[in-house]
Amino acid sequence: MRFVDLIEKKKKGFEHTKEEIDFIVSSVTKDTVPDYQISAWLMAVYFQGMTEAETAYFTDAIIKSGEVIDLSSIGSSIADKHSTGGVGDKITIILIPLLASCGIPVAKLSGRGLGHTGGTIDKLESIPGFKTDLKISQLIQKVKKNGLAIASQTKKLTPADGKLYALRDVTATVDSMPLIASSVVSKKIASGADFVVLDVKYGSGAFIKTEKDAETLSSLMTGIASKLGRKFNAVISSMAQPLGRMVGNSLEIEESIDFLKGTSTPDIKELTYEIAALTLIHFKKAKDRNEAFNIIDESIQSGKALKSLKKLIKSQGGNPDVINDFKLFKQPLYSFEIKAEQDGFVNNIDAYKIAYACKLLGAGREKKTDSIDYSAGIKLNKIYAEYAKKGETIATLFSDSEEKLSLAEPIVKNAFEFSDETPAERKIVYKVI
Ligand code: URA
Repeated sequence: MRFVDLIEKKKKGFEHTKEEIDFIVSSVTKDTVPDYQISAWLMAVYFQGMTEAETAYFTDAIIKSGEVIDLSSIGSSIADKHSTGGVGDKITIILIPLLASCGIPVAKLSGRGLGHTGGTIDKLESIPGFKTDLKISQLIQKVKKNGLAIASQTKKLTPADGKLYALRDVTATVDSMPLIASSVVSKKIASGADFVVLDVKYGSGAFIKTEKDAETLSSLMTGIASKLGRKFNAVISSMAQPLGRMVGNSLEIEESIDFLKGTSTPDIKELTYEIAALTLIHFKKAKDRNEAFNIIDESIQSGKALKSLKKLIKSQGGNPDVINDFKLFKQPLYSFEIKAEQDGFVNNIDAYKIAYACKLLGAGREKKTDSIDYSAGIKLNKIYAEYAKKGETIATLFSDSEEKLSLAEPIVKNAFEFSDETPAERKIVYKVI
């Protein structure tokens, strides 16, 4: 088989056979094909797409390109969750301890920031001492002991995705349905969990922009997972505006701790409860949504969920005292408050603009090798539907550089839209599949 013939075939919109897909993935994994040919094939897929059968073969071949984690020694079913990427998305950090406190073991492999979106691993590493580079045996041992663990993705898992993803990032081929679906589903299946909830995001701060595309992607991912013998659920949620008030690594950990102490914004609550309820029902801990919501309330109010987070931090080498003293996080050198220029209700905060400004402040990487400033970020003092009087602070920027503050300021200002009327109630969860 010649790679160039397969590029030609996809360019003309034909469907690959299983043998051809296996050849493509094995050439990528073994490095027997140059990056320019893989890139040309990715672009052909971007324009021509793949059928569901092709995408399932492709996903399976990516899974088989590396190790598949066997979590069976934990002795019970394991839950997992994956977000397609957002802004201020700290749901994993809240959800994992919450589920563990309800008796559902969670073994989670997470990633770092990608493009404009933040990553759970970077956020957790803002906790002084917290280690995420666990061996699989350590991950399993921690889940057995504490009921939860979160580790960074190992290179041994889905190596073909690692290579393809890096190429997609620099060839403008990230936002392709079959490529996203195969990338996400392969990683989740290789991670070994029995039940996975996918949080599929759409809107300005997500890779997918519309509800309709998010729905198509969700059906594709749950369909492929089912073809490969796994049950995945998908929650389609809006990423038009950042989630919660905090965007930035340690700031998001602080907001997660506050949530588990009982303080929350409506958007974080809606999404967390929805994903947690689906999982509780699947694991037969609750018979319906109502019962699940009561269990979640109880876990938060009794302090069980917070205790679970403390266990997670302690078991991975972090300083658990951050829970009661946010000053133990690295503190930024400078801050700047943006004031409202008129009276009005916040009608929209553009998620992409906030993410972009956050990266400028130092919270994300421009290049893979860049280090990040854990304390950099943005606090949204006013969020959707809140009223701001002229002169009141609507956002606070944090950075170690005054120059970065002045670069980010106009972008954040521009992200806010105001109205005279109270904005309509906003639903975050659009659909569950
Ligand atoms: N997240 C992934 O893991 N892969 C993608 O392609 C997009 C989001």
